[in-house]
Amino acid sequence: MKITIVGSGYVGLVTGACFSEVGIDVECVDVDRNKIENLNKGIIPIYEPGLGEMITRNMDKGRLRFTTNIAKAVKGCDVIFICVGTPPDEDGSADLKYVIQVARDCGKYMDDYTLVVTKSTVPVGTSLKVKSAIKEELKKRNISIEFDIASNPEFLKEGAAIEDFLKPDRIVVGADSTRAEELLRNLYKPFTLNGHPIIVMDVVSAEMTKYAANSMLATKISFINDIANLCEIVGADINNVRNGIGSDGRIGNKFIYPGIGYGGSCFPKDVQALIKTGKEYNYDLQVLKAVEAVNKKQKAVLYNKILNYFNGDLKDKTIAIWGLSFKPQTDDMREAPSLEIVNSLLKAGANVKAYDPVAINEAKHHFGDSISYYSDQYEALIDADCLAVLTEWSEFKIPNFKIVQKLLNSPVVFDGRNIYDKSEMLKMGFDYICIGINTIKSLLKPELSSAC
Ligand code: UDX
Repeated sequence: MKITIVGSGYVGLVTGACFSEVGIDVECVDVDRNKIENLNKGIIPIYEPGLGEMITRNMDKGRLRFTTNIAKAVKGCDVIFICVGTPPDEDGSADLKYVIQVARDCGKYMDDYTLVVTKSTVPVGTSLKVKSAIKEELKKRNISIEFDIASNPEFLKEGAAIEDFLKPDRIVVGADSTRAEELLRNLYKPFTLNGHPIIVMDVVSAEMTKYAANSMLATKISFINDIANLCEIVGADINNVRNGIGSDGRIGNKFIYPGIGYGGSCFPKDVQALIKTGKEYNYDLQVLKAVEAVNKKQKAVLYNKILNYFNGDLKDKTIAIWGLSFKPQTDDMREAPSLEIVNSLLKAGANVKAYDPVAINEAKHHFGDSISYYSDQYEALIDADCLAVLTEWSEFKIPNFKIVQKLLNSPVVFDGRNIYDKSEMLKMGFDYICIGINTIKSLLKPELSSAC
């Protein structure tokens, strides 16, 4: 079996590496010459635990290759995975031009039966467009070659993508023929042997499943954030409430951690795209509109707490920040809450000193020299008026609080991820402000100023 992965971004690289890891011959394609040259030298464009080692290991074995030559990569392969980006256009819908271009290339260059699988997150109905584009190209060539299409959405989490691929909660396959279904069942056999299920359905349902899954998860987060804000006002503790509801098996204790809003490349984009799909079909997805609105508001919550703490005046205050990536184990800052928080702080005249274990280079693209960067988490605290934790990296969880207290101008911690224990923080003498627990009476202001 030979497979071709088109698009050597996050999904494409993880997919290619993991298939080659189980012995399959994989060719990864990308239009970005520079990226492919680097990959061929073993330079990986993204930070993902375990990915670099897996790629080089399989390149050395000769079963994982990188190329810009799509014509060659399409010829003679059994399965093609489309893993190119679908960036949102101005109105929030996914831009399909790259997906359709790959479909056209498949039609242009395939020379025998091929299964074309869409892995990129695409709106409902896209796989049919892929099919039409391939057909059109074959027609232009005046040739009849059998092919099938399938939809195989990915559910990888950044920072845990390898583990998610090797031991998936489930593999969803939307196939339009038994041949396509059998091919994909075969390909995924190494990953389903230990009871990880493969769920086969029609193509449209598979496309819908991806959006429904991400939208459901985003809904859980916005729901708990809304409840957390109310907890503060009524004097409840969101950690107790979270434990109280999470132990009900119907609700579950995962993905109900309050914070400063969801970010990343998937949730914001996918929620928007599903709302847009609803609109196209004249259906108003009211819950998802609220999910989005709450998330927008939540990204301003920590900044407002900082502003209120300092009586509305942040001019010349210095804020130390721990964590810039949208979540731990990644340098990804797409839609990260840190973007809005840091920009609001700067706009209000504050100085920002930031530390992140891996996202500093990425952060420089966003903030340039408007903030200062540190390679040591404690150094960022020197002469700062408070610490704000924006990402729950493990190394922030049990810091040396004595040093934190000594280095800060005053012992004030804003915890956007609720990683510290309220009573311990107060006992150590910190002013501790987190999400969904009102720890400082003077901050009990139901109306948050609109800042971000
Ligand atoms: C998500 C989905 O989990 C994955 O299945 C899909 O394929 C892509 O989108 P990812 O974006 O990598 O993965 O991150 P995830 O770990 O799901 O977190 C998304 C955001 O939600 C982060 O900003 C995170 O901080 C936030 N979050 C998550 C919360 O605020 N509370 C939670 O309880 C869980």
